[in-house]
Amino acid sequence: MVKNLCVLGIESSCDETGVALVQVEGQRVPRLLAHALYSQIEMHQAYGGVVPELASRDHIRRVLPLTQDVLKESGRSLQEVDVVAFTRGPGLAGALLVGAGVACALGAALGKPVLGVHHLEGHLLSPFLSADPPEFPFVALLVSGGHTQLMRVDGVGRYQILGETIDDAAGEAFDKSAKLLGLGYPGGPALSALAQQGDPTAFKLPRPLLHSDNLDFSFAGLKTAVMVQARKCAAAQGCAVEALPSAVLADLAASTQAAIVEVLVKKSLAALKQTQLKRLVVAGGVGANRSLRTQLNSECAKRGVRVHYPELHLCTDNGAMIAMAAAMRLQSGQQTASEVYAFDVKPRWPLDAIQAGSR
Ligand code: KG4
Ligand code: ZN
Repeated sequence: MVKNLCVLGIESSCDETGVALVQVEGQRVPRLLAHALYSQIEMHQAYGGVVPELASRDHIRRVLPLTQDVLKESGRSLQEVDVVAFTRGPGLAGALLVGAGVACALGAALGKPVLGVHHLEGHLLSPFLSADPPEFPFVALLVSGGHTQLMRVDGVGRYQILGETIDDAAGEAFDKSAKLLGLGYPGGPALSALAQQGDPTAFKLPRPLLHSDNLDFSFAGLKTAVMVQARKCAAAQGCAVEALPSAVLADLAASTQAAIVEVLVKKSLAALKQTQLKRLVVAGGVGANRSLRTQLNSECAKRGVRVHYPELHLCTDNGAMIAMAAAMRLQSGQQTASEVYAFDVKPRWPLDAIQAGSR
């Protein structure tokens, strides 16, 4: 049984460098001491998306200064860190290697063990960082840039996938639709901001697999439907899609968001019905979406279901969720930290591979 542990977490799977310190105290929910984040969004914006090589190089520049910031903010010294955790996957191989390399070098130099964390488990457990943490069991809707999954979660490492996307993720649907409307990268926040001024019923867009008898998703067809509608409008106006009047772009954005959100809400409700659980946890970048939150809150309230979200600033990638997932794995006895520093990373790594007892 772990007692008191100070866990340093490093996230570097994509375009955000995150570092955090979390304190484990017995069986209480671990406590966030400090976290620091550097987003590379501005650097990648010029290219319309993440450039992996640039991402890796920038993680190298940021990770140690961020670690110093976190130590300073928490008033802890490096010697007080008991475990160094890092994102082992999934993500960009080169970017992951930066975090893994730094974590293992720190661990070896300090004589402290290291622990590789699954990025999606970090998202999944991120609502435990909020002032009102959830309790197990719950249904989780995990909606990130690369993944869309509904899960039954009975405890740390006890994850049963109930349904998932068969093609694009919800975040990808936001990003790709935004790109073709000329809204740039990252598309989710841009599209949802524009959608606030639009009419969600202006365009008829498909709700893929909405009435299927399973909990799977499919978003790949949506971007094509958005493109067809956008091109029709552009042809009628005799202009390029990006040059459409802002009111038309706002209607397209609002209709796209409405299609994605309706499917996510209805499938989440179906998962709650199927499992008979009364608690829903939403995690991942798309969990920041205001319309998704509003609709889930109102539908769940009608059914006596409690909904938990990560704090808004912890919805997208960050180091706090990685330190937290490591802390909870150690606390629950799911994993022990290792003093083998021959690190490897797993760019592709399904979440069910870390089921309790599977490693
Ligand atoms: O979880 P995350 O930071 O990264 C991955 O692990 O993939 O999620 C990023 C995704 C992107 O697709 C981004 O467009 C989307 O989350 N996103 C949003 C919003 N904020 C971020 N999508 C819709 N509305 C938002 N407000
Ligand atoms: Zn993520």
